[in-house]
Amino acid sequence: MSSPSPVRTQITNGIAWVTVDNPPVNATSTAVRRGLEEAVAQAQGARLAVLMCAGKTFIAGGDMSEFDRPPEPPHLPDVVNAIEASRTPFIAAMQGKVLGGGFEIAMACAWRIALPGTRFGLPEVNVGLIPGAGGSQRAPRLLGMETAIEMACLGKTFTAEALAESGAIDAVVSDDLRQAVEAFIADLPPRPVPVSQRTARMPSPEALSAARERIEKRARGQQSPLHNFEALQWAALPFAEGQAKERALHLKLRLSDESRALRHAFFAERAVARPAAIAGATPREVRKVAVAGGGLMGAGIATACLGAGLEVALIERDEEAAQAARERVERLLDGALGRGRISPAERESQLAALHVSADHADAAGADLAIEAVFEDLDAKRAVFARLAEVLDDTAILATNTSYLNPEEIFSGLPAPGRCLGLHFFSPAHVMKLVEVVRLPATGAEVLSTAFALARRLGKVPVLSGICDGFIGNRMLAAYRREAEYLLADGALPHQIDAAMRGFGYAMGPFEMQDMAGLQIAWANRKRQAATRDPGERYETISDMLCEMGRLGQRSGRGWYRYEEGSRTPLRDPEVEALIEEYSAKRGIARREFSAEDITARLIAVLVNEGARIVEEGIAAGFDEVDMVQIHGYGFPRWRGGPMHHARTLGWKEISRTMRQVAGESPGSWPLAEIVSSN
Ligand code: NAI
Repeated sequence: MSSPSPVRTQITNGIAWVTVDNPPVNATSTAVRRGLEEAVAQAQGARLAVLMCAGKTFIAGGDMSEFDRPPEPPHLPDVVNAIEASRTPFIAAMQGKVLGGGFEIAMACAWRIALPGTRFGLPEVNVGLIPGAGGSQRAPRLLGMETAIEMACLGKTFTAEALAESGAIDAVVSDDLRQAVEAFIADLPPRPVPVSQRTARMPSPEALSAARERIEKRARGQQSPLHNFEALQWAALPFAEGQAKERALHLKLRLSDESRALRHAFFAERAVARPAAIAGATPREVRKVAVAGGGLMGAGIATACLGAGLEVALIERDEEAAQAARERVERLLDGALGRGRISPAERESQLAALHVSADHADAAGADLAIEAVFEDLDAKRAVFARLAEVLDDTAILATNTSYLNPEEIFSGLPAPGRCLGLHFFSPAHVMKLVEVVRLPATGAEVLSTAFALARRLGKVPVLSGICDGFIGNRMLAAYRREAEYLLADGALPHQIDAAMRGFGYAMGPFEMQDMAGLQIAWANRKRQAATRDPGERYETISDMLCEMGRLGQRSGRGWYRYEEGSRTPLRDPEVEALIEEYSAKRGIARREFSAEDITARLIAVLVNEGARIVEEGIAAGFDEVDMVQIHGYGFPRWRGGPMHHARTLGWKEISRTMRQVAGESPGSWPLAEIVSSN
């Protein structure tokens, strides 16, 4: 028996009420498209038709799980055109999110009314596509080219209130939606000209080329923003012609590497946040969080918790440090206020939920404590010993350590099942990644609570086992090591940075180090010296820079030089001379590396290390590695992460490069199984 249609039509007093009920987001699946097609036919007997959705949202997009298959009829553009051409005019009555196919349908209705705060957008660009059902052709006609560009090329959403100003939304109603529709019908304006038959005003060629430049700069190699830009300009053509071009490009892009990569990222993000390790475990409720250490990381973590509506006890070591920590959080909240992320009232209520103290006893009553004090084993152990005294035995204890072994940090504490790592990234109130580090003793319920908390903070939690640097910093160390080998063998910092920017990173490895500061990695290399494999190639260029006090932007110079008050990296002849002399002293004949050589090598090293991490069971799978790299290290999302990229490129290609890289630095690159077997 076929399941009931997700679209119901009921005709009452000459009005066809059409309701889409396809939880969770009323996506335009095949069944919904079929249902809408039937609804249009049924509505022909009525005077007016009203399209609404059950649940919290209007149609919020397409069903992405259908995108890998050939499209099934009825096709959305045909359904959308049928709604627009319907003799009985349609009113779209909307709430929640009106995205992608949902907005394309809404634009085909004669009138659009919405609850306040309803958000509209064409986010196809985020999955490597352009709209496929007339969206790119109707949006410039309905919204104007400027707004259409923001939506389709940059993925921005707009509220009903904002769109009502230009008349794209006919009414923003604060009543019950159905009552509001009835009131609207009682005073119905004349039926407007269908959007597809209106004329889109094109901006001047200068304005268009400025827009194109801006889009290209932000895209960093991603193609879909530019495809959307091109498609929007087809709105200057007759509608049918523009729509045919749009459809053809949409279908072609569905099969593109870029769209596949972005869809992979979309699904992987959701999958890693609910790993098998927490299946069946119910998260505990968390109301109050204690954060020990209110420095760079602690203040950011506290701010993220406040933003999620949690009560926060921020504990510092003395009154002066407590005052400084409070000011840090206030500055972060002021920043959020300045950017319009929070309202003045939210700033006040978040500050009211913050208790800063120099007494660890004020952590009492916290359901979970996150430690972010100095990266020092004894300091961390002392903090947890004190927290264990004041907290219940059930309170979860988490460390934000980057490199220390959590087992050593927690050893000897009562109830070890409640201990784990929560490794945030800087700035912690912004960066999405949280590595959830599981110890052998960590309980499933504790883990599940940590995942639920991270999701509540709007983060992407990724489960990691214990190894030096966990998933992300271990890969970063490999990436930087090969970058330094390249310096010794013939490349210069600016060439490597430019190559990686060309691949899609916002910054190359050396610019990045200058921004973050070179001292943490320096301290790490010193710490690792005792256990480093003596057969591994070790270049000392970074160490030499650190010894010269070139610690990055904050010290005024690092791999680059900086002019007073500027953050723009400038090539420094002193560093370049130092590198060249270094190679000469080591007896290395410097050679040329093309940008392609550089990216191929650095990416192969990342992939190899990622594969080893999975093979060792530190990460459950490639999705975890990809999400760590995208959300914590700036790997271009449109390439799907290093492991997805390896699949796209082919493992043979990665293996070929990796063998060469390993051959040139013998003893330095153990090959992952998947690399050596390809
Ligand atoms: P930080 O030096 O900015 O802050 C540490 C804070 O801890 C200081 O404000 C200090 O007064 C406070 N503190 C020290 N002993 C304390 C005690 N007994 N009780 C309460 N507070 C105490 O250091 P940052 O950068 O915030 O790092 C903190 C931790 O986070 C370290 O374990 C670090 O490895 C880790 N981490 C750092 C990242 C970064 O990018 N800086 C990224 C991820 C993790």
